[in-house]
Amino acid sequence: MPGSLARSGPLPTPATATFTIVPIIHLEATHPVVASDRYSGAGHPMREVTRTIAFEGTWDADRSSLVRGIFDGLAAEWTATRGAPERALPLLDALDRGGVAGGTVIELGSGTGLVSDHLMERFDRVVAVDLSFEMLRHGVTDAPQVNADAAHLPLLTGVADALVLMNMFLFPAETARCLAPRGALVWVNSRAEDTPIHLTADEVLESLTAAGTGEWSGVASRAGEGSWCVLRRC
Ligand SMILES: C[S@@+](CC[C@H](N)C(=O)[O-])C[C@H]1O[C@@H](n2cnc3c(N)ncnc32)[C@H](O)[C@@H]1O
Repeated sequence: MPGSLARSGPLPTPATATFTIVPIIHLEATHPVVASDRYSGAGHPMREVTRTIAFEGTWDADRSSLVRGIFDGLAAEWTATRGAPERALPLLDALDRGGVAGGTVIELGSGTGLVSDHLMERFDRVVAVDLSFEMLRHGVTDAPQVNADAAHLPLLTGVADALVLMNMFLFPAETARCLAPRGALVWVNSRAEDTPIHLTADEVLESLTAAGTGEWSGVASRAGEGSWCVLRRC
């Protein structure tokens, strides 16, 4: 039938597309990557503590008190020994390429607040939380500081548009509770796998998923000496 759209013969079978879901896209570094010259080693005691908190939920009053004591003892020298400006590079790269800005950000394990003022430039509200009162007392930031345990945060459910954890333990259920449904979890290790408190991006995702907090996806990369990932619920 000339001019007709009708076609003769068997109908084509619909194409069956197969999708592979890639929860974390590893982006090429856009800033130079630098090897850390201070290797803490995979056997660092904090490494094992980090893993057991993330995967077994092992945190109680004794461990909280022990960790607080360790960081209270490091507080006086923290800024002098860790205050190099380039240490903030992985965090800034994560915020830029992870598309995280504006609203309310809670920084967990802020220490003396070495990166908190960067957060104040990019968010409307910043709260810096740390277990160690001595870290907060030696604070070098204008951000409001709260002395609290990230395992039991004095925060409303879903209050944070972003949570920043730089060299900090991951308490998956409590972290997810405080994050808004489309909020961003920003995980940074300032010396990548040489950081004592370290998880890979895939381990962060695995910990969140295993804690029953839903499905997550995001991006990860490296910058300077550090590594980062930004995850959101799917
Ligand atoms: C390795 S330091 C990192 C400090 C800061 N983020 C930085 O990179 O300079 C870890 C910080 O997490 C804090 N911290 C450890 N456990 C915590 C918890 N359960 N709740 C809140 N802060 C905690 C420590 O007191 C310490 O200040």
